[in-house]
Order: sequence, then C-alpha cells, then structure tokens
Amino acid sequence: MAAPLRVAVLLSGTGSLLQALIDAAADPGLGATIVVVGSDRTRAQGLSRAERVGIPTFAHPCPNGSDRAAWDVELTRLVAEHEPDLVVSAGFMKLVGVAFLAAFAGRIINTHPALLPSFPGMHGVRDALAYGVKVTGATVFVVDDGVDSGRILDQDSLRIEPADTEDSLHERIKQLERTMLVGCVADFAAGRLSLPYPCAQQRDAAQF
Ligand code: GRF
Repeated sequence: MAAPLRVAVLLSGTGSLLQALIDAAADPGLGATIVVVGSDRTRAQGLSRAERVGIPTFAHPCPNGSDRAAWDVELTRLVAEHEPDLVVSAGFMKLVGVAFLAAFAGRIINTHPALLPSFPGMHGVRDALAYGVKVTGATVFVVDDGVDSGRILDQDSLRIEPADTEDSLHERIKQLERTMLVGCVADFAAGRLSLPYPCAQQRDAAQF
C-alpha cells in the first residue's frame, strides 16, 4: 500500500474543519495523515484539538507591524520541516507570502465560505447575506498569489433562509466545507487529483 498523503493544516479559529479531517484520517482508508497543525493564534481552539490526538502543533503569531516577509519565511520553515505533500488552509485568516507559495506551489488548498468568484475576502458569508443572494455555498480551491482567486477544485451550494443570521448561515456552510475538504484530501490521496496541482500561472502559460 502507498504511504499515506502527508497533510499539514493551518488554522486560526475553532478548528471544526480540522476536526473533520482528524476524524476522516482516523480511517486508514482515507490514505492521509495529518503531520502538523499550525496557527497564527497561540490560543486557537484548533491547536487543542490536534494536541488531544497527538498531532504536532506550532503557533506562529504575526503581530501588527511585524516584518511580514520574515514571518512568511519562518512559517514556511515550520511547515516544511514536516515534509507535507499537501497544505490545507482550514480557516487560516492570514495570506501566505512568496516564500510559502514558492515552497508549496500547487500543494496548498483553501476553503472559502462563499461561491467564488463571488464574495472573496474575509467576510464571504456576511457579504453574500448583505448582497441579498438567495443561494450561496462554499468553495475549495488551490491557493495562488491572489485573494481567493486560485483554481476551483469543488463547490457546493445551499439556499439562504429568510431567518438566517450570519452565524446560522456560516454553520450550515461549514457543513458543506467539511464534506468537500475531506473529499478533496481523499482525491489527492488516491491520485484522482494530482500534486502539485497546476497553479494559475501554469494555466495562463498553457493558454499561449
Ligand atoms: C470556515 O468557514 C473557513 O472557510 C473560514 O473560516 C471557517 C473556519 O471554521 N475561512 P472552523 O474554525 O474550522 O470551525
């Protein structure tokens, strides 16, 4: 049997998406193992979820006014030492920089709580509600050097209910995100999706 796909996870928050990955990876049939969980927040609840099941963790804060490029280089080192095949941004609220993108080109995936290319950025759920769309959803995509602009791997949708608040809607969207994220990791592990995944620059070059 092939060695399991080595997955690094980055997060900033409660880590319910990480939990879905931990639960799925408990089944060897997924073919993936989480080798490290990192956060920009020292007290992110997601770090505790990883610690409870013995996954190595690190916290790497980026205080306001700090050297962002140096932070990115150190983040790259902290992740690279675990030799991941795939990096999953699971609610990581920082944009990675050039060092990180160069080290893991085509190997970083992210999940966004809206149907990209609509409503990119920090407040996808709020922005969709404020616009008044009737259908929204979630997107799993390959990270490139833009904001939520990389190639789309999967999407799923739901209807916004009249009684929805930002929180209730986000919770239902996260259910979609958990399922799709696990599905994408399974696809990479099984070779149904290739690594490195062609990134935007390669796609552009191929068009000419
Ligand atoms: C997800 O909706 C993700 O798309 C967004 O942050 C949320 C993370 O949720 N960027 P959790 O911390 O895993 O519960």
